[in-house]
Amino acid sequence: SSVKKNARAGKPISPDLFGIFFEDLSYAADGGLYAELIQNRSFEYNPADRKGWNSFTGWEYTTEGYGYGTISVETAAPLSVNNPHYVVLNVEEEGREGVGLTNTGFDGIVVRAGEQYNFSAFARQLSDQSIPIQVKLQGKKGTVYGEATFSAQSKDWKKYTATITAAQSDDSARLVIVAKAKGKIALDIISLFPQKTFKNRTNGLRPDIAQAIADLKPKFMRFPGGCLVHGDGIGNIYRWKNTIGPVEQRTEQRNIWNYHQSAGLGYYEYFQFCEDIGAKPVPVLAAAVSCQNSGGTWRIGGTGQRALPMNEMQAYIQDVLDLIEYANGPTSSTWGAKRAQAGHPASFHLQYLGVGNEDKITPGFRERFKMIYDAVSAKHPEITLVGTVGPSPSGQDFELGWEFAGQLAVPVVDEHYYEKPEWFLRNNLRYDTYNRSKSKVYLGEYASQGNALFNALAEAAYMTALERNGDVVKMASYAPLIARQGHTSWNPNLIYFTNTAVTPTVNYYVQQLFSTNQGDRYYSNIVSFTDKKSLKDSTLTASCVKDSKTGDLIVKLVNAGGVARQARVDLTGFKKINPKASRTTLSGTSRAENTLANPHNIVPETSAFAAEKSFVYGVAPYSLTVIRIKTN
Ligand code: AHR
Repeated sequence: SSVKKNARAGKPISPDLFGIFFEDLSYAADGGLYAELIQNRSFEYNPADRKGWNSFTGWEYTTEGYGYGTISVETAAPLSVNNPHYVVLNVEEEGREGVGLTNTGFDGIVVRAGEQYNFSAFARQLSDQSIPIQVKLQGKKGTVYGEATFSAQSKDWKKYTATITAAQSDDSARLVIVAKAKGKIALDIISLFPQKTFKNRTNGLRPDIAQAIADLKPKFMRFPGGCLVHGDGIGNIYRWKNTIGPVEQRTEQRNIWNYHQSAGLGYYEYFQFCEDIGAKPVPVLAAAVSCQNSGGTWRIGGTGQRALPMNEMQAYIQDVLDLIEYANGPTSSTWGAKRAQAGHPASFHLQYLGVGNEDKITPGFRERFKMIYDAVSAKHPEITLVGTVGPSPSGQDFELGWEFAGQLAVPVVDEHYYEKPEWFLRNNLRYDTYNRSKSKVYLGEYASQGNALFNALAEAAYMTALERNGDVVKMASYAPLIARQGHTSWNPNLIYFTNTAVTPTVNYYVQQLFSTNQGDRYYSNIVSFTDKKSLKDSTLTASCVKDSKTGDLIVKLVNAGGVARQARVDLTGFKKINPKASRTTLSGTSRAENTLANPHNIVPETSAFAAEKSFVYGVAPYSLTVIRIKTN
């Protein structure tokens, strides 16, 4: 029958549907994914980052054994104009143990017995004699776990490196760096990395956090924000060019989330990470305006400026075009050459580019967005540009944003919403009525305001609707992705971490089950919930997709309610069903969460499943079930 034929054909849906959104928020970058163990390595922290902070935050003056001298932060003849502050040690009497400084990392430095650590620092001699410098990994009580020495003997800035092996494990070690002779020396970018980074990249990422992200098998990664991108004034706009090249030449800046960005994890590292985890990069650039949601009125000019002046727009647009060249251009191009110089001659295959984040759709925004959009479309028709429609569907900028995107025929717009789980259950049909001929949707940020199983299941139920509407919804990403315990600026998050642990939430497993079981064709009318009560029950949803690469059919069943239900699964439209299928379930009590103390409370369980062309399945209360069936 035609119904059966339809079932076999299905409808094409976005192959890039489920991805991730990484924002440098809640110490996601410095003190998080970025593996640097030293906090404020470049002495660039300042009170604008956070009240009470200064160039010496994270450091302590250190002298053991009767040595004395002075320590100061200076700016004359810096290592780089982008990185003006450095520390000067003036040792008057070195004593037994030398005079120097100590860094306690981000809540301590984790060292493991037998592991190697790469130390590096820039030094410049300010007195005539060469100065021996000792670097120690040390416990709180002074136990030395490993050390190295070098002799600073250059009147120009010079980089010194050493490898230190830790003899003991300690979760709260510190790095001590002391001069062991009288004299004056300048130091900057005092850095310590574990030798083991994700994929062994230099200037790399923390392997455990990176792996948890990689295990989501995201189809794309949006970065580096969020609000971080447009900042809270035009001086705070994230400028990608400030974040590439040698780390000592990058421009650091205040993080809008009340801390500091070293830019050590910069655009090159983001692109490299995307490639390493098989995710398409989705960089987001500000639409030449900064956050208008953080108070204040729309103003152009003067202090509190929120839009780039027109005479800066051409240069800004050039930065946008240069990013595309940096990612994809040949090595003979100016920016392609910089990528090659950084170690990646091949293209990063940039396909999507976000412009703007939750911006107010004001005349100033429209004018600037259009200038950027026109320039990108003219020069790079191969790039799919993602526009913005404000912070929430209930805000006035949402309608205005959609209207504006329609006028310009922006291919994709970025919707955001953080709502209660009940909202997600009630709004399951949201995209069923979307006009298919308008801009497509990137649901760039969503979360149901909690990390309990019920929240995760409300999101799962909603994700089946995203699959059903995968012809109009191109991409979707939960937000925020990762957060450092004790330093969260936003809750809830998908993954929590400390220096020693990574805790995926229940929501994480939902994301993972959907992203590792994506399809590129959607089939309707495969699953039905037949009993009368089920018909009106918004806690029950299902989907059926096919992954063309493997030929596998994937049925997902979500029960976000407390009563077991029966689902009929009808696969009679498909030629062949291999009975040896697999089934993965995520279930428990509605309030159950994964915590640092109980990280594996709710995890998926996989078992063999005997599939048939037609079967009835008992869907447990509070559960997500993924049945994966081979068709060969
Ligand atoms: O995900 C947290 C924040 O929520 C993002 O920075 C912003 O885009 C949204 O308001």
